[in-house]
Amino acid sequence: MKNSKISKLTQSVHAGSIGDPLFGGVVTPIYPSAAYDYETEVRYPRYYNTPNQKALVEKLVALENGEDGLMFSSGMAAIMTSLFAMVKSGDHILLQHDLYGGTHHAALNEFGRYGIEHSMVDVSDLKSFEKAIQKNTKVIYVETPSNPLLKITDLAAVARIAKNHGIVTIIDNTFASPVNQNPIDFGIYVVTHSGTKYIGGHSDICCGAMVSSKN
Ligand SMILES: Cc1ncc(COP(=O)(O)O)c(C=O)c1O
Repeated sequence: MKNSKISKLTQSVHAGSIGDPLFGGVVTPIYPSAAYDYETEVRYPRYYNTPNQKALVEKLVALENGEDGLMFSSGMAAIMTSLFAMVKSGDHILLQHDLYGGTHHAALNEFGRYGIEHSMVDVSDLKSFEKAIQKNTKVIYVETPSNPLLKITDLAAVARIAKNHGIVTIIDNTFASPVNQNPIDFGIYVVTHSGTKYIGGHSDICCGAMVSSKN
């Protein structure tokens, strides 16, 4: 259900739903199994999402107009996995300056331990932001609206700059939610969410997600 003509309301209810093939129930059953046979598809839960996680992430993929995605145990797990999937020791990440405190802390305190360089620049000044790109910059990371200052980043401009330099873009779309903003439509490659916030909606779950674009 990736057709953007389908309303967000319909996608929120139906996308990703696998129904109940055994009894014809209309709601996706809960699959508590932590082990699966390997006959049809590898579902080793440490590497892949299990059926309920898949049902959820397919909903988010549809809402974000993405191609595929993964659920994680927290928003920070989604952010760090997405970032670390794109860089290795000696690479550089360019981040916007206004960020959720956990991400800010990770950049300042964790990247260096893995030999990953970073810069944090005010993205409202796009010229300075572009100037901060280095030869070894592999990822541009933004968050808009930002937490907690609600600063807004020009996603189309950031995507254009990144594409001109052959750099992957990642955005934390938590504060907008996929209902209000779809960064992939502006040319951003990877979208992350803290599902702990509006996607969970009731402060009773901790989870995260990443959704990637087709191109
Ligand atoms: C914008 C933003 N991104 C990421 C996170 C981290 O998410 P989690 O608490 O699910 O690890 C938060 C948490 O407050 C957040 O506000």
